[in-house]
Amino acid sequence: MRMVSASTFIFALLFTISAHGFLLGDPDNGKLVHQEKCNACHIGKFGGDGAKIYSRDDRRIQTVEGLMAQVEFCDRQIKSGLNGDEINDLVIYLNENYYKFE
Ligand code: HEC
Repeated sequence: MRMVSASTFIFALLFTISAHGFLLGDPDNGKLVHQEKCNACHIGKFGGDGAKIYSRDDRRIQTVEGLMAQVEFCDRQIKSGLNGDEINDLVIYLNENYYKFE
């Protein structure tokens, strides 16, 4: 009986972590990935240091879910082959620095 409740507990814990996984990423790594894979194109299109695309008045992203979807979309478009962790890291980096969704 003890074993059953322990594994149930661990399952619940893992489920909770993965459901909120994007909160556990590493924004420093997100910054690096962003510099390597994302920023040059944004600078080319929007000028400045590339941040304007995230802070312009008519920016498109309005929710953290939208941000996640956009990062996944850009990743597929440019075939950068990011893994789930790198996507999470990017979302956290962009959210902490620009979007500031709760
Ligand atoms: C080949 C060029 C290019 C690359 C590479 C690129 N993007 Fe973009 N990105 C764009 C363009 C153009 C837009 C604006 C689209 C629009 O306004 O409809 C955009 C928009 C976005 C937005 C939405 C900005 C808003 O309006 O709020 C996000 C977030 C974003 N990109 C993230 C990324 C991330 C993360 C990467 C790297 C994985 C990346 N992009 C790589 C061209 C690029």
